[in-house]
Amino acid sequence: MDALTHAVEALVTPAAYGVTRKLSIGAIELIKEYLPRAVENGQDIEARESMVHAIFLGGMAFNNAGLGYVHSMAHQLGAAYNLPHGVCCAMLLPVVERENAQRVPAAFRDVAKALGLHIEGKTDQECADYAISEIEKLSETVGIPKKLTELDINEEEFNFEYLSQNALIDACALGNPFMPTLEETIAFYKELF
Ligand SMILES: [Fe+2]
Repeated sequence: MDALTHAVEALVTPAAYGVTRKLSIGAIELIKEYLPRAVENGQDIEARESMVHAIFLGGMAFNNAGLGYVHSMAHQLGAAYNLPHGVCCAMLLPVVERENAQRVPAAFRDVAKALGLHIEGKTDQECADYAISEIEKLSETVGIPKKLTELDINEEEFNFEYLSQNALIDACALGNPFMPTLEETIAFYKELF
C-alpha cells in the first residue's frame, strides 16, 4: 500500500509530467491486479515479482515528481506510534485524496483509469469517487485497519497538535496539490478514529 501511495501521490501532484504519469499508471495497474494475490498467497511468485515491478515503477515516479501530504502525515504517525509505514500511508491515503479531489478532480482521471474504470463519459468527480472507493476496497482486501483504535491507539492520548505541526513542515507537503492548514491536518488525523 506504500507503493500504491507513491504512485497515486506522484500522479496527482502538480509536479507530475508525461514520463512520471506513465510510471505511476503502470504501478497502479500492477498493484490493483497483483497485490491481493501476493497477500493471499505468499508463494505466488508471479504476483510477488509483479509487485516488485510495481514498486520500482512507483519509485521512479515519485523520485522524479515527488510525493504529497499522505506521506507528510504518515511520517509523523509512524514515528510517534511505531507503526508500519505502509499501514500509515494506507489509512491516510483516502483521507487526503478525498480533499485533493475537491481541488484537482481532473488529476484523478488517470488514477481511476489505472484502477479499472472506463472513464469515457465520466465526470472528473465520478473518476475521483471511483478511485478513492477502489483504494479503500484494496486496503480492506489486504487487511489494513480502518481505525487507529484497532492498533490500540486511543483518541484521548493522541497528540493531534504535535503531529499536525510536524506534518506541515514535512518536505513531502510541498508536493501536495494544496497546502492544508493546521486545523485541517488535525481534522484529517481525527478521521482515523
Ligand atoms: Fe512511502
